[in-house]
Amino acid sequence: MYTFVLFAHSWTRWVLLLLAVLVLFRSLIGLIQGQSYTQLDKKLGLAFFWALNVQFVLGLALYAGLSPVTRAAFSDMAAAMKDSAIRFFVAEHFVTAILAIGAGHFGIARAKKVDEDRKKHMFMLIGSGICLALMLALIPWPNLPYGRALFFLP
Ligand code: HEM
Repeated sequence: MYTFVLFAHSWTRWVLLLLAVLVLFRSLIGLIQGQSYTQLDKKLGLAFFWALNVQFVLGLALYAGLSPVTRAAFSDMAAAMKDSAIRFFVAEHFVTAILAIGAGHFGIARAKKVDEDRKKHMFMLIGSGICLALMLALIPWPNLPYGRALFFLP
């Protein structure tokens, strides 16, 4: 179960990064060129919304029980905070991910509420931009001390 969820969490990262980049570019071009907010924009926004939710649920399942990293941390928090690899997943990764997911949801929710297409593009641009920047910061890239492989294979 743990391996399957970690595998899904690791690969959903790529889906989310791709969707965030697509939403960002579509909304940027839409804003600059004054384009209307099309069905494609709506579908991309919906896919982004669900990918954020799936990644949150997978992350929570790891965080709240499946991951040996967070289990070790919760059994001795003082020691965990001194170990940069464990601290990264238990604190930094977790907090930044909540902010990233929150920013994505903020943009999507605001874009849905407003009527003007220009404003829809603007909120999607802000939400996807902040979300993308935070995701790039929270991912354990291979060159970091607590880094992981780019493509997780069980
Ligand atoms: C923006 C969303 C997120 C992205 C892009 C993301 C990405 C990643 C990546 C790439 C890994 C390394 C997987 C591997 O070993 O290949 C990871 C690990 C982990 N993530 Fe996330 N994550 C996100 C959200 C979350 C959230 C919201 C939580 C907790 C509620 C979470 C908890 C964890 C935990 C506990 C691990 C370590 C699991 C282990 O090695 O045992 N993640 N995440």
